Amino acid sequence: MLQSIVRFFRLGNLKQVAGFTWDSQDVEQSNREFFHDIIECLVAALEAKDCYTCGHSSRVADLSLDLARGLGITGEALENIHIAAHLHDIGKMGIADNILNKRGKLLLEEWAQIHLHPVIGYNILRKSKKLGPIAKIVLHHHERWDGKGYPHGLRRYNIPLASRIIGVADAVDAMTTSRAYREPMSWKDCYYEVQVNKNKQFDPLVTEAAEKLWNTWAGEQQTDC
Ligand SMILES: [Fe+2]
Ligand SMILES: [Fe+2]
Repeated sequence: MLQSIVRFFRLGNLKQVAGFTWDSQDVEQSNREFFHDIIECLVAALEAKDCYTCGHSSRVADLSLDLARGLGITGEALENIHIAAHLHDIGKMGIADNILNKRGKLLLEEWAQIHLHPVIGYNILRKSKKLGPIAKIVLHHHERWDGKGYPHGLRRYNIPLASRIIGVADAVDAMTTSRAYREPMSWKDCYYEVQVNKNKQFDPLVTEAAEKLWNTWAGEQQTDC
């Protein structure tokens, strides 16, 4: 009897229990969509607080996905980059509103507060076992290829590849969208900036992946929310 029940449940992905029928692939897809929705809700909570970066996380997620695909990344690693990119600035929830939404130039001590956001984000996300790998990517998204970034001053390949990818996507979006204190940079000028910072701020391979995508990115109307 037990063996026949086991055989029944091994029949492909289709499962029937107590009159209900569902496909395990559908359940998995539904779980993934639910997980993604929760992530989007978390980001919406951040963007309600930080109005000037509205839409930033979604755009960085899209750009990061393009870069990762361009570098041949697939499967779970690709999924992790996408989720981490959505959540990369979640630590800004722990930064005071008057600093986050300040219109003028930030004082040194205010910059020091802003620079805490990768660690705050890491500490939020590492509470979840499932988000552990994502937390590490978020922790290092402001490291630089030349080691002059933060929080740990990691260099080159010591920085997780996913964080290097998000670093480029983050900078591109920050430059090409407007802030309260400045106009957006043109895609042409942004291309020059990225070139200048290749091997300094940015991983050269990720920069080259961005170069290949540039015309597509520049042609897309990336609208704010
Ligand atoms: Fe950030
Ligand atoms: Fe960002």
